[in-house]
Formats: sequence, structure tokens, C-alpha cells
Amino acid sequence: MPLVTTTEMFKKAYHGGYAIGAFNVNNMETIQGIVEAGEETKSPLILQVSKGARDYANMVYLKKLVEAAVLTSSVPIALHLDHGDTFEICKQCVDDGFTSVMIDASKLPFEENIALSKRVVEYAHDHGVVVEAELGKLAGVEEHVSNKYGSYTNPAEVQEFVEKTGVDSLAIAIGTSHGAYKFKGEPKLRFDILEEIQQLIPDFPIVLHGSSSVPKAFVDMINSYGGNVAGAQGVPEEMLRKAATMSVCKINIDTDIRLACTAEIRKHLTEYPDHFDPRQYLKPARAAIKEMVKHKIINVLGSDGKA
Ligand code: G3H
Ligand code: 13P
Ligand code: ZN
Repeated sequence: MPLVTTTEMFKKAYHGGYAIGAFNVNNMETIQGIVEAGEETKSPLILQVSKGARDYANMVYLKKLVEAAVLTSSVPIALHLDHGDTFEICKQCVDDGFTSVMIDASKLPFEENIALSKRVVEYAHDHGVVVEAELGKLAGVEEHVSNKYGSYTNPAEVQEFVEKTGVDSLAIAIGTSHGAYKFKGEPKLRFDILEEIQQLIPDFPIVLHGSSSVPKAFVDMINSYGGNVAGAQGVPEEMLRKAATMSVCKINIDTDIRLACTAEIRKHLTEYPDHFDPRQYLKPARAAIKEMVKHKIINVLGSDGKA
């Protein structure tokens, strides 16, 4: 099946009470692990490419690896630009055959965010590509909440933003953040804000960034095989499941892929100190990524059987 946009995926997910996993890809093993998991669970997938991924692997390699994955699988796959921060990078991805792009102008003032997002939408839509934008600020939200919404997404702004930009989905800030250290104390998401937004823009797909769960098993495994990721904490799975039954249609996962991969490689190299062929440790790492993604699809996202 050729690459698809997220339009159909989100429509079905919204009304079916589930979400599509958007998995960050950086190399062949990651792409294979994710796509095999999607294939075995019959789940649609979003593969997303960040600036870090492009710097690491080169856009041409990533695009060709995703093309290979699409050729060898039967589930719908969307190729998405993660956190595009300029019109130029969004345009380049549209021109390169991505089916979805994110323009992340969330650090700009409201009117400038609207203007840049709208410009990307006009170009992308002319080329059959869908656009995600962001309102609110993700990082460090807990530390400097000064009023009712602080740096969380202000529900009063979403309707105007969506109408003026014409975006196809909206990433919001309700307490998630990128990386392995998301909460200092008790994990907390502002479901009240999500609910308010859902009422204001019904039928509109919402995106959650920073949604890795940082499974304790991976953290313990990394720490017990010589690593040090003490104090890592993610978004509890039951919160993501709840969000998926609401208007959240896309859930972004990168950190959990990194943790699964690293835990397995650390274990392997400790158990087999004589191994030095990368295939010996990348094979179990790829299998660990696949199992982690299958678990997410079935137990968290609920997208199994929806391909
Ligand atoms: O949005 C953050 C993603 O985890 C991508 O991170 O830019 O290090 O690849 P990266
Ligand atoms: P995590 O760091 O929680 O995996 O979030 C990834 C993400 O939001 C990519 O855009
Ligand atoms: Zn993100």
C-alpha cells in the first residue's frame, strides 16, 4: 500500500475511540521494528522524522528506508515531518513526498503562529499533504504555571487558530513533555483542558507530543546493566488510553523506542562480552522495539485491527 495521509486514519480513530501511534524513526532497525509490529497487529502507523533524525541519518536515507518499509507491508503508513520549524523545511518535505508535516511555531506569538501555520497549510494542501500545528508550550510546564492556563494550551484560542490556519490537526500542551524525565512528583495531565477543547472544536483531531511512558522495566534494565537513567518517569499508560478515547488521535512516541533499544543492547553486550558484530546486538534491539510497539498498539493506543 502506498503512503497515505492521516485524514482517514484520524476520522476512524476519532469515532472509534482509539489513537494512532506516531513513532520517531532514525535508522533501519527502528523502522523495521515499528513496521513489523504494525503488520502483526494490523495497525495503521505514522512514521515521523525529526531534525535530529535528519542530521543523524540524512533525509534521503530515511525516505528510502520508509519507502522500503511501505513496499514490504500492507498496513496504511503516513510519513510525517516532526517539529518542522520553518516554512522551508515543511515545503521541502512536501516536495520530497511526505504525506503530513508539522509546522511547530508554538514559540512564536499567537498571530505569528497563525500566519506561519497558514502559509504552510496553503502550500501543503495544494500538494495533497496534511498539516499539524501546535498551540501552547510543552517543556517545563509544571515549573512556571502562572495563571489558569500558564503555558498549557488556552482553550479560548483554539477555535480561532484552527479556523484561521486551516490546519488538519492540533498539538496541545496539557502536561506532557519530551524526553525521559517528564514529572518530578505525581504524573498529572490537564484532562479538563482537553475536554474543553474537545467541546469547542468537536470532531477535530488532537495530537499529544511527549507521550512516552518510560516503562520501569526498561529503566531498571538499563540501570542494572551499567546505565544511569535514575529518576526517569513518563506518562502513565492509563492516561494515554483515556486520552485516546477522547479527541486525541495521534500519540507521539520516541523516548520509549530509545529506551527499549538501549536496554536490550546493554543487556546483550554485558551477557556476551565477546560479541562485536553489530548484527548480534541490533537484532535483539530491533525485536525489543517491535514488542514494545506491539504492546502500545494493543494496550495503550487501541489501534490493533484497524488497518
Ligand atoms: O520531538 C522530539 C523527538 O523526540 C525527536 O528528538 O530531535 O533528538 O530526534 P530528536
Ligand atoms: P517522547 O519524548 O515522550 O517520546 O515524545 C516524542 C515526541 O513528542 C516527538 O515529537
Ligand atoms: Zn514532539
